[in-house]
Amino acid sequence: MRSFIFLFLASLVASADNTSFVRAPYLQMANHESIRVVWRTSADSTPRVRYGLRHDSLDSEVPADSVLTRRHPSLDTVAPIFKDAPVSTHQFEATISGLKPATTYYYAVYDGETRLTPADTSYRFKTHPAPGTDAPVYFWVVGDSGTGGKAQAAVHSAMVNHNAALDKQLDLYIHVGDMAYSRGTNKEFNDRFFPMYEPTLRNTVCWPSMGNHEGATSKGASGVGPYYDAYICPTNAEAGGLASGKEAYYSFDFGRVHFICLDSHDLDRRPSGEMAQWLKADLEKTQADFLVAFFHHPPYTKGTHDSDKEGQLIEMREHIMPILESGGVDIVFTGHSHIYERSMLIDGAYHTPTIAEGVILDDGDGDPAGDGPYRKSAGLNPHNGVIQVVTGHGGTGVGRSGTIPLMKRIIVENGSCLISITGDTLTAEMVNLKGDIRDTFAITKKGVVKHTPIANPWQPE
Ligand SMILES: [Fe+2]
Repeated sequence: MRSFIFLFLASLVASADNTSFVRAPYLQMANHESIRVVWRTSADSTPRVRYGLRHDSLDSEVPADSVLTRRHPSLDTVAPIFKDAPVSTHQFEATISGLKPATTYYYAVYDGETRLTPADTSYRFKTHPAPGTDAPVYFWVVGDSGTGGKAQAAVHSAMVNHNAALDKQLDLYIHVGDMAYSRGTNKEFNDRFFPMYEPTLRNTVCWPSMGNHEGATSKGASGVGPYYDAYICPTNAEAGGLASGKEAYYSFDFGRVHFICLDSHDLDRRPSGEMAQWLKADLEKTQADFLVAFFHHPPYTKGTHDSDKEGQLIEMREHIMPILESGGVDIVFTGHSHIYERSMLIDGAYHTPTIAEGVILDDGDGDPAGDGPYRKSAGLNPHNGVIQVVTGHGGTGVGRSGTIPLMKRIIVENGSCLISITGDTLTAEMVNLKGDIRDTFAITKKGVVKHTPIANPWQPE
């Protein structure tokens, strides 16, 4: 009887946590002085966010009349959400501004005087460092995860447990697309994305790129659909970079690291296209020391997709990679192909089919405990080498169809990637769904490093 009462009470406590929400609070659009808290309910409310530097003293407030409320198009013509959401859905977007850089704040969401989020220190956010600051960054990259199934949950738990064991906290989270199978609907986002990642989303901004599955209901050109309701992405350089005018592709800065998101699915991928033109201009503008790019369709893969044969993948390789490599890109994260494939240090691999001749600059494993980190010049320098990471193994069934001759690691398991950039070194780990570290590599950028392609590079089996 006692255990029954305990379970009953425990369930009451659990149900007090977030049952008011259709989507529990999550964070978007951080920069060094502001952030947005977004949540949904199935009825109207008086939305307030209280926040402060101490979790037990939330002494500042975003009042209800400053919170943007978005509703079904039948009720709201100014800022409607997509029509596939129930008419009762209310989305609230609270912008907290005037914050200090690189500072942790705690927050709570209210309906009038009723506190909706529990008094829990996990409801927090950390602002970005001041632009250009030499600050470390630690981030998670996951792709092709949105089944709502056990493997997706295990990949997330493995990341959470890994960080807890090391007492590390994410600065940001990148999703490379296919996050709500199979059509990225409102309901699929509600069922397969938000609940699964909620403990991370409440304190970590997810910066997304759209996958083809979300592309079934959301359109990059118009920025309309459930994906674009879920995410608030920069259009006007709100977090650094160059204004793109579109949420589909954007850039942002975190200290000395420049992040670029591209839409590989439903926009013009040609060099003459708007996206490529923006990309060139963005790369010319950045003063960052590290450059991270991410999008859905991989330039190099033979997992469950084939980059020698599929149009979007070929175009990203032939049209977009030359621009990114001219801009000095250090690492590219993609998904779509349900596998982990990680390249050697490469440059100029634009040929179709992909061949190893003349494009591998360092055929070592990049492991600090093995062959040693890949070496690049300090700063961003054209064609100084890039690592390609296909991380489409975040939760769906994995598979392999062949071998891209640029890859150093090909691992057919579910997992995700954790990346830290500190000082002159980027270090990446692939953590599988059991929590095992299955790959480690690093890039150190120091002095001037000149590479020439290796004549007979190591080749994967
Ligand atoms: Fe995909």
